[in-house]
Amino acid sequence: MRRLAAGLALALVAAAASPVIAQDALPQAVTTDREMVVTANPLATAAGEDMLRRGGTAADAMVAVQTVLGLVEPQSSGLGGGAFLVWYDGDTGDLTTYDAREKAPLAATEDRFVGLGFFTAWQSGLSVGVPGTPRLMEVVHDEHGRKNWNSLFTDANLLARSGFEVTARTADQVNALLALNPSCTDRLFFRDPVAFAYFTNGSATDCAAVPAGTRIRNRDYADTLQALRRRGADAIYSGDLAASIVDAVQTDPAIPGDMTLADLAAYEVIEREPVCEEYRGHDVCGMGPPSSGALAVGQILGILEGFDLGDDPLGEDFVHLFAQAGRLAFADRNLYVGDTDFVTVPVEGMLDDDYLASRAALITDVDMGTAQPGTPPGEFDPTGPQATDTENGTSHVSIVDRYGNALSMTTTIESSFGNGVMVDGGGFLLNNELTDFSFSPVTADGQPVANRVQPGKRPRSSMSPTIVLEDGEVVLVTGSPGGSSIIGYTAQSIVNVLDFGLDPQQAVNVPHHQNRNGSTNLEAPIPGVTWDYDVDALAAALEARGHPVSIGALTSGLSVIQVTDDGFVGGADHRRDGTVGGR
Ligand code: DON
Repeated sequence: MRRLAAGLALALVAAAASPVIAQDALPQAVTTDREMVVTANPLATAAGEDMLRRGGTAADAMVAVQTVLGLVEPQSSGLGGGAFLVWYDGDTGDLTTYDAREKAPLAATEDRFVGLGFFTAWQSGLSVGVPGTPRLMEVVHDEHGRKNWNSLFTDANLLARSGFEVTARTADQVNALLALNPSCTDRLFFRDPVAFAYFTNGSATDCAAVPAGTRIRNRDYADTLQALRRRGADAIYSGDLAASIVDAVQTDPAIPGDMTLADLAAYEVIEREPVCEEYRGHDVCGMGPPSSGALAVGQILGILEGFDLGDDPLGEDFVHLFAQAGRLAFADRNLYVGDTDFVTVPVEGMLDDDYLASRAALITDVDMGTAQPGTPPGEFDPTGPQATDTENGTSHVSIVDRYGNALSMTTTIESSFGNGVMVDGGGFLLNNELTDFSFSPVTADGQPVANRVQPGKRPRSSMSPTIVLEDGEVVLVTGSPGGSSIIGYTAQSIVNVLDFGLDPQQAVNVPHHQNRNGSTNLEAPIPGVTWDYDVDALAAALEARGHPVSIGALTSGLSVIQVTDDGFVGGADHRRDGTVGGR
């Protein structure tokens, strides 16, 4: 592994961005020749790197990474959650997407969340979807792995048994949630005694997170890994652990949920066609419904294609255009996208060239205000738009291996620490993914919402694991956590590389800007992490063009790999604990 010469990288940054005031020493891109892995946590990256070095494929490395992430970044993803994964096969050049999204239990009804506030629904048994991640690991390993399944858990097992240090991110997030409770004994957050005992000091009067840097063990998790090694994913979907999952859901101390053993036994990962959009001679491919990711990223890019974006990633004109494209994409997303096993989504029509040109024609020099959805060609169900997004714990993994394979996976338990309940004896947290459904099944005028709860349905997602091809070859692997902001983060990373010529790390270091059909959000610069720039000046210029502007944190977790003739170039997100590994 080597780093790009700092001087060269800074010169590129300065040349590319005129409003940039000064560049502190920022993270630099890493280059490798043979293989690369980028994750949101150094221990997870090390596990992936180790597996690649031992001749594992990207699929083998993914299992090693995911099992470590579930231990050391438990707030974001794990065995109790779900994921979407895009796979590029180095032998055939084929792209496959794997839908391991959590499913609503068969007992779920449309009115599941009606009348509930987000916190109430989040911290309950009702929010827990049937997990997909364990089966995904197995399916992708079966189809694309080279290493023995038994050998994939070594790093996670060692860390779980011998201990690892709690990160500052984990401790801070535990404390932030504890602060929302009335008291240490009257708790909604960490109401579950198992999670409370694991993540906190357990005090009834002065409860606080286990401090950052403390070395902890998770023997239950190690036992779960042992069961996975022996029985495969069935260890989670049937038997003792399945019974523990169902018990944790059905006896939730806040509101019991309705997941059953039958729901777990019936869970399947679905292989779906990738959704691709042509953009400046590239094919930008990702996950179709139930994710809105590839469609919205594709619409943003397809709308931008007709414009000259200039040469400045933070230039007023470009930020304006990117915001308008975001508005238009989110208007369609909110109306049309739901699980295609239940509702008809005009997938091709939403990316139709003429349709996107008609949408682009709505853009002027001033902010368009709230965009209305368009009418893409093709069939769709008569639905009304979903009013609110309540998405908010997720992680992105990008891997390329020596065999020419590439993997882009966004993995989640939805909100920070999922629904806050740890499976007794399992050592992992349950998700709250079902809060990604629309809380209301109908609009104010009685139209059904595409993303309403239905039994066995998968909630709409914004996760956008992406692989970009040029002439059928991989040129970029990208994706991010961030709830509905994922779409903007991912699209911006692609434009930063393809249009502005930035390397992956520079692309990540650029402050974010986006509009989800509300206000135009600008990221305040973070010293040592993002480019410095005059955010107030940019805000004022946009306000003069009619934009409602908000300035704040836009905490992406991008993991980006560029494939070049000279090898791999990687960028990790230092807004979280991202690192690049490989050789
Ligand atoms: O599937 C989704 O879109 C959300 N559940 C993802 C949540 C997320 O990214 C939270 N991250 N910071």
